Amino acid sequence: MKKALVLALLALSVAVLAGGAFAADKPLVVGFSQIGAESGWRTAETESVISAAKDLGIDLKFSDGQQKQENQIKAIRSFIAQGVDGILLAPVVETGWEPVLGEAKKANIPVILLDRGITVNDESLYVCKITSDFVFEGKEAAKWVIAETGGTANVVQLQGTPGASAATERQKGFEEGIKDAPGIKILESQTGDFTMELGKQVMEAFLKKYGKDINVVYAHNDDMGLGAIQAIKEAGFKPGEDIKIITVDATKAAFEAMVAGEMNAVVECNPLLGPLAFETLKKAIAGETLEKWIVQKDEVFTKDQAPSVIGDRKY
Ligand code: AHR
Repeated sequence: MKKALVLALLALSVAVLAGGAFAADKPLVVGFSQIGAESGWRTAETESVISAAKDLGIDLKFSDGQQKQENQIKAIRSFIAQGVDGILLAPVVETGWEPVLGEAKKANIPVILLDRGITVNDESLYVCKITSDFVFEGKEAAKWVIAETGGTANVVQLQGTPGASAATERQKGFEEGIKDAPGIKILESQTGDFTMELGKQVMEAFLKKYGKDINVVYAHNDDMGLGAIQAIKEAGFKPGEDIKIITVDATKAAFEAMVAGEMNAVVECNPLLGPLAFETLKKAIAGETLEKWIVQKDEVFTKDQAPSVIGDRKY
């Protein structure tokens, strides 16, 4: 009887040890709910996350939300059902996340926000956000417009996705930045949904309405700025000269446009967040306390700097 008990205990401890060893070797399983593929910037971010997961031996479950919050919510629910160890969420819009993040919290799955923020009553629904400071980016754009135009210019604004923190805050920063420059006027703001195609369409409409009264295009991302360049050319104006263009992101495509003289300045926004995202997620899983906002530092590049900087651009 005694011998049987000892054997049973021995068998149990071997099983526990084996389970423990297995658990340690088991790759981390992470769900990544990406917004979509609306811009060159986003493709660079997706590649950064996928390649960092590969390098770190992480089992990544990737979902493309095709710019729809409902798809992202479905993806998060599926990650929860699969019992992932952690979730990375690039939220398309700021609001509407409480129920699904509540479910992740109940399942004890840490969620890290990547590249955009959300608005929730209960901040404990996510661990932290890793993003740029979009208000700062908007202010930098405003500073450049004031300096470049001597404080007098008619601006048209191509906004990002309605309800996205990257759009609302880039607008807020720009408006704050020009508030003491009464000669800078925003003629009109319209969304181009962060895409080149819509950026072009909206710019065509602006050109029809305001023609040569437009002095500056402020686009919330490079893709919309690149679309605007096409519209400006088709309307018979010279982008970069007749109409100056400043955008946010600083992708290689925008640098090429600057080298060609068709874009004037870019405010950087770093999409290469993969390695930092996983490093942060591992800390969260280990129970470490983290800063609620891990801010990415960005800078402004002008077309004069572009030829010497373009070779080093990583996205
Ligand atoms: O959230 C970051 C923004 O989203 C980038 O500026 C833009 O290009 C992307 O679509």
